[in-house]
Amino acid sequence: MEAEAGVLYSEDAIAERVRELGDAITRDYADRRIVLVSILKGSAMFLADLIRAIDLPLRVDFMSISRYGGDEQTGVVRILQDLEGPILGDDVIVVEDIVDTGLTLSYLLSVLENREPASVEVCALLDKTVRRITPLRIRYQGFDCPDRFVVGYGMDYDERYRNMPDIYAVEERALKEDPMMLARLLDA
Ligand code: IMP
Ligand code: MG
Repeated sequence: MEAEAGVLYSEDAIAERVRELGDAITRDYADRRIVLVSILKGSAMFLADLIRAIDLPLRVDFMSISRYGGDEQTGVVRILQDLEGPILGDDVIVVEDIVDTGLTLSYLLSVLENREPASVEVCALLDKTVRRITPLRIRYQGFDCPDRFVVGYGMDYDERYRNMPDIYAVEERALKEDPMMLARLLDA
């Protein structure tokens, strides 16, 4: 395979790390009222695997957001679909596929905290710590991800590649030129 793209985290490595995260949450949240809040769509796959690794009663809820077009530096997002239920008094765990600058998530955390949950923590599969603009506490971190563009296991480029079981690092420039380049590379 060319240097433009390669597997960064394999399906097996992801599965093992997700089990460890599930074990940690199971230990930390015994006798608490947990709600896992998944930020659509990227974290749906991670959520599905993570909840099966948690041996506690729990609820799941979903939120769908979109960034405002020209407003990338503030992190202010539009809520396209809000949570189904209240989180007052609940122990919330926000489940994210990847945290990059942290702007989106820090805005979202302030929205959730205003609803007076008992606690809010973050479980992110990938954490691009070197890209962080807003300080954030990621209590459960899957992997400290290098500063590369990644796709697969829920993460997309222009809605493609979410269904790949492994996570690939790809040159974003190459994807811009040809969004199908990775698919072609894998077929070859
Ligand atoms: P942030 O506000 O910069 O932290 O943006 C985080 C969001 O950007 C994630 O939830 C993803 O939807 C998206 N994102 C950031 N980096 C990547 C990547 O490498 N691949 C795919 N999506 C990404
Ligand atoms: Mg996301």
